[in-house]
Amino acid sequence: MGSPTGINAARLLSRLSALGAIGGLPGGGVCRLALTEEDKSARAHVIDLMRQLGLKVTVDQIGNVVGIRAGESNESPVLIGSHIDTVKTGGLYDGNLGVLAGLEVVECLNEHAMATRRPLGVCFFTNEEGARFAPDMMGSMVHQGHLDLDEMLSQCDSDGRSVSDALSAIGYAGDEPVNSLRASAFLELHIEQGPVLEEAGITIGAVESVQGISWTEVTIQGVSNHAGTTPMRLRHDAGYVASAIAVFVRDLALKMGGDQVGTVGLLEVEPNLVNVIARTGRLTVDLRNTDNAKLVQAEQALADYLQCIAVQEGVQIETKSLARFEPVEFAAELVDAVAATATRLGHSVRKMPSGAGHDAQAFAPNCPTAMIFVPSVRGISHNIEEFTAPKHIEAGANVLLELAMERANL
Ligand code: HGY
Ligand code: MN
Ligand code: MN
Repeated sequence: MGSPTGINAARLLSRLSALGAIGGLPGGGVCRLALTEEDKSARAHVIDLMRQLGLKVTVDQIGNVVGIRAGESNESPVLIGSHIDTVKTGGLYDGNLGVLAGLEVVECLNEHAMATRRPLGVCFFTNEEGARFAPDMMGSMVHQGHLDLDEMLSQCDSDGRSVSDALSAIGYAGDEPVNSLRASAFLELHIEQGPVLEEAGITIGAVESVQGISWTEVTIQGVSNHAGTTPMRLRHDAGYVASAIAVFVRDLALKMGGDQVGTVGLLEVEPNLVNVIARTGRLTVDLRNTDNAKLVQAEQALADYLQCIAVQEGVQIETKSLARFEPVEFAAELVDAVAATATRLGHSVRKMPSGAGHDAQAFAPNCPTAMIFVPSVRGISHNIEEFTAPKHIEAGANVLLELAMERANL
């Protein structure tokens, strides 16, 4: 039989909605935090698809799952992967598209009885989002030897539950050794999660790099007191300090300009009551920049500000780094191959950086790695309104199919 002329878009779209129903939210969208019951069900669902496609499935010590389609040789495989965990207000496509499109590539090859010289693998990695356990890209970073397994297994969520506990509770503490599989190439199809492609009217993004990421948890110890009787000059208000830090982070990003972004996405105060000056505050600061030197500058500016406001308001401030990834460049020859394939298939394409972190960045130091972006409608993601047009999903998956076949026969 010949080689596939294209993916089965209807099949891929129906698989996206079937997977999206696992952890589906009543008003649409998906909540499938890493290592929860929803994640467990989604894992079983995808592994079932892998097995139906004849893949040999392994689970490693941090729950990463790899399904391998045998090649004519036993040389290192081409891997296609992403993640199936989501944030609490996730959409159908973030991560899920990359995994299901990889299975669609396998199914196309199977349907055409097409062998590849190299084995071809489809993977999903544990806790890419970092929304429950920090850091993000945890599973893929351990898989490729950049983060220590035991240290990551001991990371805890805000309820004090460890990764190791949660992994065992869902039955995915596998025995495949981590940091033992090297790919000949790694490919990830992903939604852009930003406005760039849609604003430019372009179908495919050939991703050149991932920007640097810095996550910090800030805890503030103030003094709770009566909201009515305490004069302003005597207050040590953790609620005010937390809010001031959030304003500082935004102003810092606007002042720095360029690619600098800053987000306070988590902000809690205790006792969180209308007539009590907050005793404690806990917030997270997410700083990112394509330029690591500038990211370091932003981190230093934050540290200086925290020191100053602690003295000014008479509170104690502690910080803990939750994640720190330097910017990553993808292999130029593979980025060019993404662009050339998109063009050959008749799609508009542009090279661009990624604002979001991805599992692919764990592979980039170890093998030629590339990402294929498709547009996000209104640039929305990490939001239940996340949407990508079927024609763009089909275009991205076809670029993935072509690239996977090409690389698996090198
Ligand atoms: O935070 C990120 O960039 C990714 O969604 N984990
Ligand atoms: Mn993602
Ligand atoms: Mn995400």
